[in-house]
Amino acid sequence: MSIDFSESGFETEQPLVATSLLREDDGEYSLRPKTLTEYIGQRKAKENLTVFIQAAKLRNEPLDHVLLHGPPGLGKTTLSGIIANEMGVNIRITSGPAIEKPGDLAALLTNLQENDILFVDEIHRLNRQVEEILYPAMEDYAIDIIIGKGPSANSIRLDLPRFTLIGATTRAGQLSAPLRDRFGVTLRLELYTPEELALIVKRSAGILEVPIEDAGAMEIAKRSRGTPRIANRMLRRVRDFAQVKAGGIITRQVADEALTALEVDHLGLDAVDRRMLRSIIDNYRGGPVGLDTLAATINEESVTLEDVYEPYLMQLGFLTRTPRGRCVTVKAYQHLGLSVPGGFDGGMEQLTL
Ligand code: ADE
Repeated sequence: MSIDFSESGFETEQPLVATSLLREDDGEYSLRPKTLTEYIGQRKAKENLTVFIQAAKLRNEPLDHVLLHGPPGLGKTTLSGIIANEMGVNIRITSGPAIEKPGDLAALLTNLQENDILFVDEIHRLNRQVEEILYPAMEDYAIDIIIGKGPSANSIRLDLPRFTLIGATTRAGQLSAPLRDRFGVTLRLELYTPEELALIVKRSAGILEVPIEDAGAMEIAKRSRGTPRIANRMLRRVRDFAQVKAGGIITRQVADEALTALEVDHLGLDAVDRRMLRSIIDNYRGGPVGLDTLAATINEESVTLEDVYEPYLMQLGFLTRTPRGRCVTVKAYQHLGLSVPGGFDGGMEQLTL
């Protein structure tokens, strides 16, 4: 695959790249850890990365290309910033949908310096043409460019600086096999435990200079769906309640009152989670029901249900995925205070038909 620059946005201003971690939710920026030691949780990913980073630095080479996958809000961007910091290199941040043309990607790649990191969020959303430019770039640090048009057109190979691509995705399954195979390191980020989230909440409270009791931090942690981004967002809202109504200190009671007022229940389920479970129970007798049908019934996007809501509901054991569709479990009925219908088997009967 070659690039014809006459068709590309190569020479125009490129709004598709950021050089720091200020791109999205600025509010989160100050709370992001900068080193692996500060980064809480994801023990396996951290241990592996520590070795790979040390080895790459010893050899004075760029880190091998890294694919980070897992549900949203678990720190994929944060971790990439940390990798850049630990490697002592620059990071350029962009996303799959922002890179529209091969020339856009070529512009990004040719502006990198030796060992720099290119972070591509939502990498599963790269279009095919752009993706094909990435293959030689990742493998040989080179791209092919067409100069001129018609019979006098010439293809030249342009060498790139040696760089590291960090791709982030919520849906590793949607990556094409050739792209997936070109990542030397694949790390899956897992939902955090309440204990890890409580540490994150206490660290963030320290940075925000808001006093918090251990039980207050744990209350927020238990209701954050295993996700630091949610925990930090809840911390800010609970801080508002604490400052306006409770003398500024976050206790368990203040956290409970604030989160109940925000319609987040004791396990962190919000209105959408509850609508999802209720719909499967009320409309589909507990399931199975196909994802698209369920999404249409409750007026949400299928991808949102799949990426954002299902991982936590499955971790809690409230929802199962079967070949015939989604099913709730006995635990889900119990959590919603409903009696389990006689003969309910969580979709197992249909499976054995
Ligand atoms: N803030 C967001 N994610 C974090 C993490 N994993 N460790 C520490 N602080 C965080």
